[in-house]
Amino acid sequence: TPKGTCLESVKIAIDTGYRHIDGAFVYYNEHEVGQAIREKIAEGRIKREDIFYCGKLWNTCHPPELVRPTLEKTLKILQLDYVDLYIIELPMAFKPGDAIYPRDENGKFIYHETDLCATWEAMEACKDAGLAKSIGVSNFNRRQLEMILNKPGLKHKPVSNQVECHPYFTQPKLLEFCRQHDIVIVGYSPLGTSRDETWVNVSSPPLLKDPVLNAIGKKYNKTAAQVALRFSIQRGVVVIPKSFNPQRIRENFQIFDFSLTEEEMKEIEALNKNVRYVELLM
Ligand code: A2P
Repeated sequence: TPKGTCLESVKIAIDTGYRHIDGAFVYYNEHEVGQAIREKIAEGRIKREDIFYCGKLWNTCHPPELVRPTLEKTLKILQLDYVDLYIIELPMAFKPGDAIYPRDENGKFIYHETDLCATWEAMEACKDAGLAKSIGVSNFNRRQLEMILNKPGLKHKPVSNQVECHPYFTQPKLLEFCRQHDIVIVGYSPLGTSRDETWVNVSSPPLLKDPVLNAIGKKYNKTAAQVALRFSIQRGVVVIPKSFNPQRIRENFQIFDFSLTEEEMKEIEALNKNVRYVELLM
């Protein structure tokens, strides 16, 4: 991201009314997010408690002794005292060290054996220390969630699981499982991603070109993007749309002045292709 883009976008977002900000150390812009939040607090526009900031524990930091120092590093970058939510970004670990994507001489990822339950206990300690108000996970499947939920002596269960979720990948089974366990699904790529071929499976068609989403949008004078976001929130999925464009940042917030009928919800649910844009092949 060009320097300053994230800072400006978060400030516009906060002015627009957004309060939930999804970040991560590996996005390399946490300093700008923190600055935007702090500037808006200094302006008197918001209070710290109005903001819900989610940070993420990266794959190279799964060993339990690294968890708290990693969160402390994020807090230092943000210049905030706590995050509202801290989540394990992925259920598998890479070799700890400076390389974010450690690879061997053949270019293969170097994984690291860790015990997710031990990582979780370190996450619990961060909550107990007040560094994170809540703790959760991301990209966990049912088995991985069950491993945590069934952990002997579990102190805090994951409050949320951030996974890919949108009309072409509706996650019906995981959504139901999480509902039963009071785990909120936070849907990433709710607009179908930026279609950047370096990390996106572009063989799945562009979501926002979908005829059904566009036709329903026409009825409400909304865009396909707004219909896609409304669909997710209406089925209880939290959305974290990404935009660095002021007009689209505002557009993506204009989803609280209309609602989709039950029939339209079913019609959109039927678009599910069960194909991920974000395959996370590593
Ligand atoms: P931009 O940042 O230029 O707005 P996702 O949230 O699913 O990851 O999608 C993000 C992609 O969708 C980005 O490429 C973003 O580009 C684009 N985008 C965000 N909001 C809209 C919108 N309302 N209409 C069309 N494209 C959008």
